Amino acid sequence: MRTKPTYQTWIRVNKLLIFLGISLLFLMITFFPISIYLRILSGMLALPFLYIVFILSYSIFQFAGFGGNYQSKIHDVIVSRMDVESGKILDIGTGSGSLIIKIAKRFPHSSLIGIDYWGENWEYSKAQCEENAEIEGVSDRIQFLKASASKLPFRDAEFDVVVSCLTFHEVKDSRNKTDVIREAFRVLKPGGTFVFMDLFLDEAMFGERTELVADLTDTVELKQEKLTDVLNLPKLLLNKKVLGNAMVFHGKKTK
Ligand SMILES: C[S@@+](CC[C@H](N)C(=O)[O-])C[C@H]1O[C@@H](n2cnc3c(N)ncnc32)[C@H](O)[C@@H]1O
Repeated sequence: MRTKPTYQTWIRVNKLLIFLGISLLFLMITFFPISIYLRILSGMLALPFLYIVFILSYSIFQFAGFGGNYQSKIHDVIVSRMDVESGKILDIGTGSGSLIIKIAKRFPHSSLIGIDYWGENWEYSKAQCEENAEIEGVSDRIQFLKASASKLPFRDAEFDVVVSCLTFHEVKDSRNKTDVIREAFRVLKPGGTFVFMDLFLDEAMFGERTELVADLTDTVELKQEKLTDVLNLPKLLLNKKVLGNAMVFHGKKTK
């Protein structure tokens, strides 16, 4: 068994390798004994892919523990907005378990569940979460379940706190992301609290923000914070394709 937990970043290494492969292919073509125009064209086609490789590699470095550690810092922002001493906590889209394990350590009287669909296009797994929790000494209080955020396998009002980080926009089995957020509210007790970090400013994903908030606030009191207002992020992470659209929604269920 491992002795150190492994928490990958939010950037998929496979994705990085695909873009790197395409860039290298275009660059190799520039050395082929073919028309100079085709070689120039190939070199130009390599440029956008190289730019993506740069952005992805830089993001991995900034998110990872060996670099800027921003993934953990963002999780700290979520934990700092949690209002709980004990009770039952749910993390939707738990990934490698990094957020929920952090929460378990911060709130030693809580019991916790992390759900994820752990699809093949991601590099996390349930076994990895369980092993991480074991290594971190919190496995007796955390359960990991395979489920989709769009249809949570829980009764109404089962949790005191629900958290989620960068997951709602990824849910593919529900076209309407507001429905996925509502599903999270369904399993929260009246009086219970929630903290969600996601790309809520991305209108293609979530629609216009005032409409989104109006849609949600019939059953919750909701505070909104731009991530950039609560955490100093390196400039390149503010790219709209990375965290430029990130916001924290937090508050309380009223009924
Ligand atoms: C960017 S990662 C964030 C992981 C984790 N919340 C964190 O902060 O480290 C997005 C996560 O959403 C999960 N996910 C995507 N679609 C999902 C779905 N339909 N139901 C549950 N989880 C899903 C992925 O498996 C992945 O773990």
